[in-house]
This record gives sequence, structure tokens and C-alpha cells, in this order.
Amino acid sequence: MTGKVGLFYGTDTGNTERVAELIKEKLEEKIGEGQVDVYDVATASPEDFDKYQYIILGQPTWYYGELQSSWDEFWDDFKKVDFTGKKVACFGLGDQADYSEYFLDAMGMMHDVAVENGAEPVGYWPTDGYEFDASKAVTEDGEFFVGLAIDEDQQPELTEERVSQWVDQIVEEMGLA
Ligand SMILES: Cc1cc2nc3c(=O)[nH]c(=O)nc-3n(C[C@H](O)[C@H](O)[C@H](O)COP(=O)(O)O)c2cc1C
Repeated sequence: MTGKVGLFYGTDTGNTERVAELIKEKLEEKIGEGQVDVYDVATASPEDFDKYQYIILGQPTWYYGELQSSWDEFWDDFKKVDFTGKKVACFGLGDQADYSEYFLDAMGMMHDVAVENGAEPVGYWPTDGYEFDASKAVTEDGEFFVGLAIDEDQQPELTEERVSQWVDQIVEEMGLA
């Protein structure tokens, strides 16, 4: 196992890929060039997860609370990944206005599988500053999302600052500083 970070994402229309690249860029500014390996889950294998102690998982929500298509295809394999002893940070993309009843649901599902399979979750993010009706990606008290919440449809101007802050947070919480 390496000390590097493995980032796994899926995307339908490219937004999550761009956010993944932004996370890599900002994270490597903090922990060093070449320290973040990025995988599109469409071409990843379950063994790829075994190489990393620090993992970032990214996924948009599609079609009223569904998994993104390549994550959906990968899902049976994903459920078999052993996350014991690994620190895992999630990020999700969604649209809080047009899909307000299902905001970021897929991030919640992804987080829950990782935790069930032994992950220590990091990178919880305040729900302040978002307006939505329901989400499977919030903590019981409603105070936090279970990972970074990005809304490229309604709040694209906030994305870069959110990513910067969150990267600082996970560097601390993963103990990578
Ligand atoms: C048909 C359609 C369905 C969507 N369903 C949801 C949803 O249920 N929940 C949500 O939070 N966002 C939903 N979205 C918003 C997408 O998650 C958002 O546009 C995201 O940035 C797309 O990421 P991608 O380009 O990586 O695929 C939907 C968007 C479209 C066009």
C-alpha cells in the first residue's frame, strides 16, 4: 500500500471529472506533485482500491436520486471493497433547486457502503448555505453533508472556494499535513 491518495470518480456530463481534477490540483499543492492518482470508475478495478490508505470518492446524483451510470455498473464490486483502516472522503455533485427532494443522494449511498465496509469517514461539510428539501447525504441532525457538496447548476461560482477549504480540511483530518 502506498502513502498516496487514490481518487475515484464517475461522471455523465463531465462536471464531476472537472471537480476531481480541481481537487487533485489543490491537494497536490499541499502534499506534493504526483501524490494523487485519479481513476474514472468506468475503467477502474476493485483491486485499485487496495493500493491506497487514503481514498476520495466522487459521484453526481442522476435521475431522481439514482447512482451515476458508471458507479451503478461498478456497484456490486464496490460493495465488496474492504475499507478497513482506510480514511475515506466523499464528494458529490447535484442540483439543489431542480432536484431538491434528492439532493446528492448518491453521495450518501456511496458513503454508507464505505462506512459499512470499515472506512473511517472524513470531510463532512456543513449544510449551511444550501437550500433543499431532502437528501440521503446528510447526518441525522441535518447539520452536515457526509462529504463535500458541489452544485455546478445553481452555485458554480462557489465551487473553487469550497474545494479549497475542503482540501485543507481533509489534509488535516487524514493527517497528511
Ligand atoms: C436528468 C437529470 C437528473 C438529475 N437528478 C438529480 C438528482 O436526483 N439529485 C441531484 O442532486 N442532482 C441531480 N441532477 C443534477 C446533476 O447531478 C448535476 O448536473 C451534476 O453536476 C452532473 O454531474 P456530471 O456532469 O459529472 O454527470 C440531475 C441532472 C439531470 C440533467
